[in-house]
Amino acid sequence: MTEVAKLEKHGSIAVLTIDSPPVNALGLDVRRALLKYISMAEADPEIEAVILACAGQTFSAGADISEFGKPFQAPDLGVVCRHIENSSKIIVAAIHGTALGGGLEVALCCHYRIAVPSARLGLPEVALGLLPGAGGTQRIPRLIGARKALEFITGGAPVSASAAREMGIVDEVADEGALVGSALEYVRKLIAGGAPLRRVRDLEDRIAADRQQPELFDEFRRSNARAFRGKDAPESIVKAIEAAVALPFEEGLAREFELFVELEKGLQAKAQIHAFFAERTASKVKDVPGDTPVLPVRTVGVVGAGTMGGGIAMNFLNVGIPVHIVETAQANLDRGIATIRKNYEISLKRGKLTAEALERRMSLLHATLDLGDLRDCDLIIEAVFESMPLKQEIFAKLDAVARDGAILASNTSFLDLNQIARATSRPDHVIGLHFFSPANVMPLLEVVRGDATAKPVVATAMKLARKIGKVPVLSGVCDGFIANRAMRARTEQADLLLLQNLSPDAIDAAIYDYGFAMGPFRMLDLVGLDVIGRDSTERSVAKDLVAAGRMGQKSGGGYYDYDEARAARPSEAALDIIRAHAAWKGIAQRSFSQEEIVARLLHPVVNEGAKILEEGIAMRASDIDVAMIKGYNWPVQTGGPMFWADAVGLPRIVETMKALEAEQGEAMRPSRLLVELAESGRTFGSL
Ligand code: CAA
Repeated sequence: MTEVAKLEKHGSIAVLTIDSPPVNALGLDVRRALLKYISMAEADPEIEAVILACAGQTFSAGADISEFGKPFQAPDLGVVCRHIENSSKIIVAAIHGTALGGGLEVALCCHYRIAVPSARLGLPEVALGLLPGAGGTQRIPRLIGARKALEFITGGAPVSASAAREMGIVDEVADEGALVGSALEYVRKLIAGGAPLRRVRDLEDRIAADRQQPELFDEFRRSNARAFRGKDAPESIVKAIEAAVALPFEEGLAREFELFVELEKGLQAKAQIHAFFAERTASKVKDVPGDTPVLPVRTVGVVGAGTMGGGIAMNFLNVGIPVHIVETAQANLDRGIATIRKNYEISLKRGKLTAEALERRMSLLHATLDLGDLRDCDLIIEAVFESMPLKQEIFAKLDAVARDGAILASNTSFLDLNQIARATSRPDHVIGLHFFSPANVMPLLEVVRGDATAKPVVATAMKLARKIGKVPVLSGVCDGFIANRAMRARTEQADLLLLQNLSPDAIDAAIYDYGFAMGPFRMLDLVGLDVIGRDSTERSVAKDLVAAGRMGQKSGGGYYDYDEARAARPSEAALDIIRAHAAWKGIAQRSFSQEEIVARLLHPVVNEGAKILEEGIAMRASDIDVAMIKGYNWPVQTGGPMFWADAVGLPRIVETMKALEAEQGEAMRPSRLLVELAESGRTFGSL
């Protein structure tokens, strides 16, 4: 076994360093080592105090997530934490990088905490459908009070060292780059000043004050009801913090453990842990090894300054990469630049950006009407209107202008990338970079690999995505790629259900209850029905609504009626239009159970996902889950459509698809892969 920790003496102070790459997760070996070395320090009369530090990039990313759900092996983290807290010698956590989850819980058991300014501290378990199970929910309220603890732990977002200092989680901020030196100095000061063993479990002032206002918990529940809807972990966290305030420490800890075990056993935690690893696996391309050389991306060109082009440009400006943005007319260019500035000004007003950072970003943006100005760009992304002849024309021009070795990318959401690549002399350097709207906000980036795309170009795109804060998912070429293609299956079902006698409200409610922020018809009303299907001549319900002056929210009515405050009400007028459309199409009217509505909306997505896999468009089922979660806010607590299908059981999915096939015909036939997996007792996750 390689040593995952070491103890070094600096006079009477010992430095215990955990060294377990990549992120010093608290797996079995690390837990054992912590017990062993703390006991050694305890027994060594020469040692007066201990600094607990970590090697490498980071302090500790917490419990080893890959151990969850596996048989438990002692000692558990709670035991290790108690051992540290009980020590009779002062232990100081020295934090750099991130102290997350169990990592922060270990630090909370040390008697003092010092961190470099760049360190970030947090309890992100809620994102895994869990709660901090090693005393975090009991100790944090004792340091910062219940109200702030509720926000900190249900929010899950890490805070900076200075914010943690202000909150009372960190005691001292160290010099950047000189953590151990600063920590040694700090410990010497503590010893010289006769500092006590400050055990967080014994701090009572904060929670004694919280005990006087028990209503704060229900207030917190009420004001977050919408955000917590459908998720088990936030409510369990609230209960655990309630216990911290109401019960003696040991009983509170026991309650926390009970709530943790309940969550860990549940499907939501499994789904969210699946999503955590799926997201990281998605950036690995099977035939493009991690050491594939990547091309430099120092300057980016964006063709088109519309909503997409502008949003795409912002991603690069945000990380300090200069952008040349091109339009065909000055007015469009001016409008595009003004929109980018306006978006940054909104961030400025919200305190998310400083005025200097805003100006720095804008100064990296060069606006031009001349494609020739892109000659030195390393990557050029086309974001113009979805027309094949137009895209081919632009790519031919870019090919002539761009330097040798530059990557040419298209943001097309459905056109054939291979056909676009053929307009150039460098199809090996052509790739799809499909951003989701709004492009500066949505985390998904579909990286579309053409038949000829070279491996270094794929590797560059995957790495670049991470650099600009996106989650990349590799897709092959097909109409709609992964996320839009799979989602289309749901849209088509929703449209059909509407014509079979379901109201927009009933369908939206089913989707909302499943965990989505909004149902499809609310969404359409928000976007504007006149914008939808503008390019198609086919008669649709949306077109009938528009013909009746119902454009959506902006005109006071669409699928719903809206009042002055834009609150939606079911609309008789819209229902009449929908019924008339159904009669014109000759669609039989029927009724549906609640369960049936959800099944009808979800199963076709799974079936389309299976076809996407079967055709090799997605590399893995989990990539489809990531694409749906990150591109469409698919509720993460379900793990995504493919994980959900595995949990339901594929034989049951096949059965439902067969029933849909009997009703709707061939388009609903269960995919070959789905049937094969179901018959052989396998799952999408096993592929
Ligand atoms: N356990 C196991 N593996 C982990 C891990 C963890 N807690 N955190 C990260 N890793 C792995 C990743 O899977 C990845 O592995 P591969 O290279 O094989 O893909 C590797 O470490 C590096 O991670 P990232 O690619 O995410 O690297 P990054 O530099 O972008 O981010 C990080 C680093 C901020 C620490 C990020 O990994 C992260 O947020 N990790 C999860 C933190 C977390 O949720 N901790 C809570 C754990 S639950 C807990 O602690 C419960 C409890 O109270 C008992």
